[in-house]
Amino acid sequence: MSDLAENTENNIPNLRLNDGNQIPQLGFGVFKVADEIAEQVVTDALHTGYRHIDTAMIYKNEEAVGRAINSSAIPREELFITTKLWNTDQGADTAIPAFEASLERLGLDYVDLYLIHWPGNDSERYLRSWEKLEEIKESGRARSIGVSNFRIRDIENLAAAGLTVPAVNQIELHPAFQQHELRTFQEPRGIRTEAWGPLGQNKYDLRTLDGIEGIAEKHGKSIQQVIIRWHLQSGVILFPKSSTRERIEENFNVFDFELDADDLGTFAGFDRGQRVGSNPDDVDF
Ligand SMILES: NC(=O)c1ccc[n+]([C@@H]2O[C@H](COP(=O)([O-])OP(=O)(O)OC[C@H]3O[C@@H](n4cnc5c(N)ncnc54)[C@H](OP(=O)(O)O)[C@@H]3O)[C@@H](O)[C@H]2O)c1
Repeated sequence: MSDLAENTENNIPNLRLNDGNQIPQLGFGVFKVADEIAEQVVTDALHTGYRHIDTAMIYKNEEAVGRAINSSAIPREELFITTKLWNTDQGADTAIPAFEASLERLGLDYVDLYLIHWPGNDSERYLRSWEKLEEIKESGRARSIGVSNFRIRDIENLAAAGLTVPAVNQIELHPAFQQHELRTFQEPRGIRTEAWGPLGQNKYDLRTLDGIEGIAEKHGKSIQQVIIRWHLQSGVILFPKSSTRERIEENFNVFDFELDADDLGTFAGFDRGQRVGSNPDDVDF
């Protein structure tokens, strides 16, 4: 898989997925953006220049996201929209109806990426679900398909069953939880890493990362901006969430500086195996 990134007009690099499709490396996530404000927040993000939106059935804001997309003047082909199959909708009989309900709520004919949200501990169930995602991709209604929160053994199970290699695995990843083992496993297999909680979900004080304030000062940027830059330079796809216009813009304003080797070395030292969200082992259903 080539790591060559093409620059788009608004400076967001596109990365190539293993199925040949391209994904904007920086997007906008809408977890915990309440339905009542999601249309305005996504409109603000699109206005800022974001073209990649990450939602999920369980965020309960697909309709509002769809309204923002459909009322924008942006051609559909310039947008990259991801949504996800929720846990209780997994299975051979339920995955496709759940997908169709998401499309309906979004008011779209297709999504760019459809993910299995969590593996759970029943591998047969996610294998049957994945076969349905393969059918959805075949139909053209999801241009790419991937997984989220999958562990090494889950990816091995897909491979052992001879099924499609996921285009991405969307996993918790931030400076205090860098996921080296999983990334080292999946990336040579052509599976791109997407980072959820890229800013640690605001659940730990980022200033406790020893040396980060100095890096931010050196570049005249905020701590959040240097973290976003670190993800980008690591080849990770990310979509930080914010409900405030100022931060939506701040998080996008990361293409006019570069972290140097010293900065990256300091970042490597921030990993302390600290999760801020659920361990996939504990999410069963
Ligand atoms: N697949 C999964 O299981 C999974 C799980 C979680 C998330 N996700 C996806 O990943 C996306 C990103 O993760 P996330 O939303 O959980 O967490 P995140 O992006 O790491 O952090 C969001 C938090 O950071 C704050 N924030 C954002 N920009 C900031 C800035 N410049 N300065 C100060 N604070 C800032 C936000 O507050 P304000 O809103 O008040 O600005 C919010 O509290 C989600 O929206 C969702 O699309 C997927």
